[in-house]
Amino acid sequence: MISIKREEVAPDGKPFQVVEISNANGMKIRLSDWGATWLSCRIPVKQQLREVVLGCESVAQHIAQSAYLGASVGRFANRIANAEFILNGKRYSLDANQQGKHQLHGGSSGFAQQRWTITDQQHDSVQFSLFSADGDQGFPGNVDAKVRFGLRADNAVLVEYSALSDQDTPLNLTNHAYFNLDGESADQSILQHRLKLQADYYLPVDNAGIPNAPLKRVENSGFDFRQTKLIAQDFLQDQDQKTVAGYDHAFLLASQGIGAEAQAELISGNGDLSLKVFTDQPAIQVYSGNFLAGTPNRTCGVYANHAGIALETQALPDTPNHPEWFKYGGISKAGEPYKKTTLFLFASR
Ligand code: BGC
Repeated sequence: MISIKREEVAPDGKPFQVVEISNANGMKIRLSDWGATWLSCRIPVKQQLREVVLGCESVAQHIAQSAYLGASVGRFANRIANAEFILNGKRYSLDANQQGKHQLHGGSSGFAQQRWTITDQQHDSVQFSLFSADGDQGFPGNVDAKVRFGLRADNAVLVEYSALSDQDTPLNLTNHAYFNLDGESADQSILQHRLKLQADYYLPVDNAGIPNAPLKRVENSGFDFRQTKLIAQDFLQDQDQKTVAGYDHAFLLASQGIGAEAQAELISGNGDLSLKVFTDQPAIQVYSGNFLAGTPNRTCGVYANHAGIALETQALPDTPNHPEWFKYGGISKAGEPYKKTTLFLFASR
């Protein structure tokens, strides 16, 4: 079932479009056309609807916060060092929105800060589209981007990004939802969740989140999540974590694809709800919400640090400046369709 409500006025003076999709189990997701943002995800657990993604009281507040809650991030999710890169022999300068120096999540007018258009609706899905002109955020090429959010009967949320550019260009699209499987109002830190990641390597970064070393094996470090582990267990134990106040790193996935085995699994503090993430993206940025404090919550208050964890499926950060990582993705060829699918499967236990 889908309903569209017109809510408060967006920065462009027109109302937000908000879409709600429910399934037969009573699970409900809400989405907004501004930033193609995943606003809400309520799942029946023990006869109650539990809100498992962070969000704000109103849509206007939601899109004004700076933590990218649930947003569709592009053109290039994560950082590009010094807000510049060279592609096909030409240097491009980007909008620098991090420390006035680097680009984070497409800059100050990235895909998360733009109004998308609803271009298709089905009973169980909605598609948002965005045209990003040559030069948008500093990137080359006209890009047609789309995202479809679907809610399946088995309580899975399917997020499919697709795009086409008329020039070679960096492209790295992701959704930036923060999860708290105990319920976002539970006041329970995600450090008490358990996490499993099918990743043998992570990418060390400097204190601005810029990769500063080659991919590193996870063995004998706090980055080893190959067996399910309490997030708190090794939290802030390594220098590589201390640099960015916790986990805020890309993990290179051992396999890609929507198959039998999930690339990531998150389990709530009390063990009653799990989230499996399946993706054909090369990596997952695991961000333990180290700087969330002060972000407005759903009840007129503010979130604390670690109130949610983002599991952002994407290419490696700063790939445009690392030709050795082009093989993992992150650069789109002119006329070659870009398509990336991530499935978030929730199950009460
Ligand atoms: C980044 C964090 C950043 C957050 C909000 C994450 O993807 O890795 O460093 O604070 O987004 O912008």
